Amino acid sequence: MDRIYLANWLMPSFKENEAASEFFRSFSVEKSVKKATLWASALGVYAARINGKKISYVLAPGWTAYHARVQYQEYDVTEYLKEENTLSLTAAGGWRMDYGFGGNLKVIKPWAGKEIAGNEYAVIAALLIEYADGTEDMIVTDENWSVKETKWRYCNIYQGDIYDETFEGNTHSVKVIDHPKHVLEQQEGEIIAEHEHLKPIALIHTPKGETVIDFGQNMTGYISFTLTVPKGEKIVIDHAEILDYEGNFYNDNYRSAKAEIIYIGDGTEHTWKPEFTFYGFRYIRLKEFHGEVNLDAFTAIAVHSDMERTGYFECSDPKVNQLYHNIIWGQKGNFLDIPTDCPQRDERLGWTGDAQVFARCASYNYNTRKFFRKWLTDMTHEQQPNGAIPHIIPRLDWESCSCGWADVCVIVPWQMYLLYGDRELLARQYVTIKRWIDYMYEQGDAYIRSGKHYGDWLSQDAPDPNSCGGGTSKWFLAYAFRAYSTSLFIKISKILGTNKRDIQEYTAKLEETKCRIREDYFKDGMLTLMTQTAHVLTLKFELCEESMLQAHADKLAEMIHENGDRLTTGFLGTPYLLHMLTEYGHTDLAYTLLFQTKMPSWLYAVEHGATTMWEHWDGIRDDGSLWDVGMNSYNHYAYGAVGDWLYGTVAGIETDEDHPGFEKIRFCPKTTDKLTYAKASLKTKYGTIASEWHHDGEKVTYTFTVPSGLSAKLELGEEIFELGAGTHTFER
Ligand code: BGC
Repeated sequence: MDRIYLANWLMPSFKENEAASEFFRSFSVEKSVKKATLWASALGVYAARINGKKISYVLAPGWTAYHARVQYQEYDVTEYLKEENTLSLTAAGGWRMDYGFGGNLKVIKPWAGKEIAGNEYAVIAALLIEYADGTEDMIVTDENWSVKETKWRYCNIYQGDIYDETFEGNTHSVKVIDHPKHVLEQQEGEIIAEHEHLKPIALIHTPKGETVIDFGQNMTGYISFTLTVPKGEKIVIDHAEILDYEGNFYNDNYRSAKAEIIYIGDGTEHTWKPEFTFYGFRYIRLKEFHGEVNLDAFTAIAVHSDMERTGYFECSDPKVNQLYHNIIWGQKGNFLDIPTDCPQRDERLGWTGDAQVFARCASYNYNTRKFFRKWLTDMTHEQQPNGAIPHIIPRLDWESCSCGWADVCVIVPWQMYLLYGDRELLARQYVTIKRWIDYMYEQGDAYIRSGKHYGDWLSQDAPDPNSCGGGTSKWFLAYAFRAYSTSLFIKISKILGTNKRDIQEYTAKLEETKCRIREDYFKDGMLTLMTQTAHVLTLKFELCEESMLQAHADKLAEMIHENGDRLTTGFLGTPYLLHMLTEYGHTDLAYTLLFQTKMPSWLYAVEHGATTMWEHWDGIRDDGSLWDVGMNSYNHYAYGAVGDWLYGTVAGIETDEDHPGFEKIRFCPKTTDKLTYAKASLKTKYGTIASEWHHDGEKVTYTFTVPSGLSAKLELGEEIFELGAGTHTFER
């Protein structure tokens, strides 16, 4: 058993008021150490240090369904010990959610305890020292520790930091609290780590006279600076993703999140960076500053969950490459322990719909297995007694249960299965999935016709251009996703070999759902809803009669042509749009949409300077005006879902549900005259798969790499080949 269970929860004995506090204890080591291990956690976030050296991960212990569990971390600290030592844990509130969403809502996220309020924090740690002579010592958090007020006078994830170099805090005794330890669980997810270090690319003096530093990349993390700030003087820095049309600093879209750093100097040089907060930004504004600005003094550090990069894509078109770059950075910016909608404004929440939409692409880009597994555990904890899946995981106190959002509990495990062959995860999530499916049927119309569905979020076909819910009937969407989730549930049940009666029962339910859809939304076999999304989902979820699928695909193509070869789809339709066009013989049109630069399109944002994915197709309009400040993020990965079409269709590395996890590869590249080459590689548990093609105007040369021990099925137009391990070249 990890020794942390022998330790005690400690709180400050004084009111900390959103300042961070440092819990510490000194100890001597008199014998030769074989191994030293630290286990640590916090209700809040903590930074652990031994002899002043930080040894903990970024923003540990991460964000989980806190009422049910809090992760703890294990560190090998053998090399940090000396004869005289101090072990310390500095803690702050972290994701405790006392100030959130829209600025109006104050949610105190309950800890699972009795003595501690949601807006307070506590730490717990155990250090085991194993000596070479076979004996051991253990240091645990207890009443022998002390706690000190720190220079971190204020740390709030949304509002920012106040750090005062001149502050000399008092030392107090600690308060040992009787808080349950069974909430502690070993780290399940990926750790959060610092990644890219970006130097400024420009110092800008804006028309309004502001001093702004541009790091060239919209990102999530924090800045670091090395400065000498005069004693008692402060510098004030805030963050932004874009400059406005006139070139001025713009952060109105952060809503109530101030995202501001106030740093008070002591007249000597320090290198400083936040430790208990993070920011979404490309630009910083030096609102108050002293002396000349030396760009070398500043660095932007990207932080995200430490997933292994597995996928790479490249083609001959620089704009598509920039789109791909934006997708990758959208993922880096929003895979911060949980999948978030955005990293900058006063949300940064685990919105389920967004994650559902992007999970497949994300799992090509990076190995997300561990990351999603942990989040799915929290989803199971957050599932309501009646089976409803909240729209945000970990959830806040207010809830709604929306189609296309709640279905995340089926779609994400299913994608994990396709991409990684993770059958065990299906088994583990089975009950959660089943309870969700049952919820939808038990609630019947009360669910389908509830006013809680978000709809085809942010699509371009809403009757009112300023509304967010899109132009596709939400009731239709609720039926459609019920059908899809049920169909996946049936597949999952078969994979897991659950009893045949269940499978029959849910097959009947699926048929019943399809009948209802056809009664309500089809006439003469064709959809009566004239939106692109309704057609895309009809194809993807096979909602119409099989014989009518092609007619729906052709109708979809016709609607796109009529719209000037532009899409209108929102969050729910977009992920499948290009796939469905390809599957039903309209690959050329899919490429036309990919290369479209007029709004709405993927390359529109690229042409407008995006370095991450935008929340809205028209986040910045052609006339330079911006979407309403109420909801306008420039780092929202949902539309980045198209990345899986780049891997799967352009480069042609496709998943195969009969051979999940690429245990048998399916190559099916679709070339276009618009590109002279495309290539992708994907690291799988079996080795690295690669696919590449070059087009010289007359012929196409394809190269495929199959890792040893694997085989592949290659589809080149009508031709089918079986490939063994090795590198294969074809000319056509
Ligand atoms: C979030 C979304 C989310 C949505 C629900 C927004 O505020 O940023 O991405 O899915 O609400 O519709």
